[in-house]
Amino acid sequence: MSASLNEELAALVADAESALAAAADDNALNTAKAAFVGKGGSLTALMKRMRELSPEERPVFGKAVNVAREQVNAAIDGNRRRIAAEAQQRSLAGTQIDATLPGRAPDRGGPHPLRMVEQDMVNVFRDLGYDVALGPEVESDFHNFGALNFPDDHPARDMHDTLKLEDGRLLRTHTSSVQVRTMLANKPPIRVVVPGAVYRSDTVDATHSPYFHQLEGLVVDRNISMAHLKGTLQAFVDRYFQRSLPIRLRPSYFPFTEPSAEVDIQCVFCGGDGCRVCGKSGWIEILGCGMVDPAVFESCGVDPNEWSGFAFGMGIERVAMLRYQIEDIRHFYDNDVRFLSHFS
Ligand code: DAH
Repeated sequence: MSASLNEELAALVADAESALAAAADDNALNTAKAAFVGKGGSLTALMKRMRELSPEERPVFGKAVNVAREQVNAAIDGNRRRIAAEAQQRSLAGTQIDATLPGRAPDRGGPHPLRMVEQDMVNVFRDLGYDVALGPEVESDFHNFGALNFPDDHPARDMHDTLKLEDGRLLRTHTSSVQVRTMLANKPPIRVVVPGAVYRSDTVDATHSPYFHQLEGLVVDRNISMAHLKGTLQAFVDRYFQRSLPIRLRPSYFPFTEPSAEVDIQCVFCGGDGCRVCGKSGWIEILGCGMVDPAVFESCGVDPNEWSGFAFGMGIERVAMLRYQIEDIRHFYDNDVRFLSHFS
């Protein structure tokens, strides 16, 4: 066998091994790989010179070339592992792990502030002996209006800016619809509060939203009077705001109560002196109420000669805004974590 071709093969393997060992990264390694064992590499070039050998020498040299190729390939694999290990060493050396650092506490979720206010309000009434009733948000005209003594085509229906469904049902405009459901399903005496979402096609601003929440109250018993109503509302206000806060009743109108009233509390911002928030009056309206109209009792199968009752409805957002001195109702729906986290 030609000594010179074999020597060249041995030299090629030695060159390849030292070039691969010198490669500092994958790029350099791939370049060396192409130069030695690639299609246009020196090993292929050496193979092509097989013609220089005698027919007996050729298979022997062919085997030698294969052994050489395996040697180079093994060197490539070995050096690829070396380069990966070196890279890992470098990245570990650059990272300082301080095992004494305290862990980072995950952000804790919590109930939405409106939910907490609603619960607090409901709990005051639970303490006063009330049950909680719930009703559907998609409601019939009968429960939302008809049984509550809103005559057909009466302008009071327009006041509510009702969102209607195609099938004739509607999104309830107030929780008063659950008064009807409660009286149809239960015999007096009745003492319930009803928290829930209501809908009106209102334009959004600092104090209005097309979606908000109310807490409705209904008491039906024998000889219930306006004095019970006023005493109950005063008890609620004092307990909820955790101090004695004067209230006043102003005559008003609702189709489902007679007489009807709107209730103000002394302004929580100025203590009654008069400020921007209360329009200098010293009072802030928080709810509507009244004595259940006999026509409502009749629609709900309650005998108005035997029973009397009072009802009230207040906006939960409104109460929350007064309690926490929040100036814009939109904070409740934006769900900015910075706002929400004040309450948890
Ligand atoms: N449903 C009325 C509203 O949404 C509020 C209200 C007024 C409820 C008087 C009552 C009530 O129960 O007696 O504007």
